[in-house]
Amino acid sequence: MKAAAVIVAAGKGERARQTGGLAKQYQRIGDHAVIWYALAAFVGHQDIDTVSVVINDAGEEDFTRAAEAFADRVRIVRGGASRQASVRAGLSSLRDAAPDFVLIHDGARPFVDEALIARVLGTLATHPGAGALPALPVSDTIKRERDGLVGETLDRAGLFAAQTPQGFPYRMIADAHDAAAGFDHFTDDAAIAEWAEIPVVLVEGSAANVKLTTAQDIAIADQKLKKADVMIDVRTGNGYDVHALVPGDHVTLCGVVIPHTQALSGHSDADVGLHALTDSLLATCGAGDIGDHFPPSDPKWKGAASHIFVEHAVRIVREKGGRIGNADITLICEAPKIATHREAMRSAIAAMTGLDLERVSVKATTNEKIGFIGRREGIAAIATASVVYGEGR
Ligand code: CTP
Ligand code: MG
Repeated sequence: MKAAAVIVAAGKGERARQTGGLAKQYQRIGDHAVIWYALAAFVGHQDIDTVSVVINDAGEEDFTRAAEAFADRVRIVRGGASRQASVRAGLSSLRDAAPDFVLIHDGARPFVDEALIARVLGTLATHPGAGALPALPVSDTIKRERDGLVGETLDRAGLFAAQTPQGFPYRMIADAHDAAAGFDHFTDDAAIAEWAEIPVVLVEGSAANVKLTTAQDIAIADQKLKKADVMIDVRTGNGYDVHALVPGDHVTLCGVVIPHTQALSGHSDADVGLHALTDSLLATCGAGDIGDHFPPSDPKWKGAASHIFVEHAVRIVREKGGRIGNADITLICEAPKIATHREAMRSAIAAMTGLDLERVSVKATTNEKIGFIGRREGIAAIATASVVYGEGR
């Protein structure tokens, strides 16, 4: 089975025209001209052998520029004054290729996709002698206007909005177009098939497959493609810290002072939890580590409360356009018991980071009496933070 496609792009695009601007099929949406997307879908489709594109004289240069990538893989044909005449010219250009089926598509529908093309071809294969029309049921209530007022409300049951690509047995639709050439009023090819008494099967259309008709349609299509192009930039960072335990009477962990039989030694308050958290935040934007920002050699940080470090990292993240998603800290120690202080720690971290409580997690584990932690020589902490960057870019 051989299948070909005719893409019509010989219209003037009057309704979408901006003074002095390009015809709509050559205007840019996303990274390419409108016509490029339909070409990519059909030229790249494994079941389509030949693609004819119908253009008008005024569009020749614009087409060459827009479709450079496909230049060797499409036939270029001159269109006529109406869509119907343009389709007929496209069909004629396929006479020597003699495909079994032809799909006729508006160059102004860039969002046709591989699945829709496959549905239309599949219907043609299973319904010999019939055409295939992708369509969607009309969901709006339809009114007929009379003298500027509502004249009548139509029954929308059974009404469908027709899309393209419309598929047909090639010979049948080419003959029907030839016979209909004197009556230049058909707005789509299924209407010509109907006139020529070729049965046409309805195929499920695609909501995305809109025809760009107005300047607003083009602006919306451009927005949609640009949005699709934005990578959701979620990054995670990890941090690890350890401080030695020495004789003393309290430790500070995750911002909470806990009476204890030992103390953590360090230049600042030696809060391993907050130091690990600071590193994990800095790691999400390549901003080095806590030592780069607060050198232990600097006497300024002697005895400092470590929330200062976290708040500093939060500020850096925000300046780089980041929004923190969550923070998770695990404290590794034999003692003190963390459970009773956990909620206070979560609240303290929520306050430093601006996070909702449910986005802050503090967990603790012992080291099963193994190693330096097991011998109560030190306490370690690991932290993970996630940050979303570049939202709204
Ligand atoms: N078309 C064509 N030849 C024509 C008229 C239309 O090939 N003489 C093509 C258009 O390029 C478009 C498709 O048929 O891809 C659907 O037509 P429409 O959306 O009406 O496009 P235009 O006729 O270009 O726009 P307008 O009616 O606003 O001038
Ligand atoms: Mg038109």
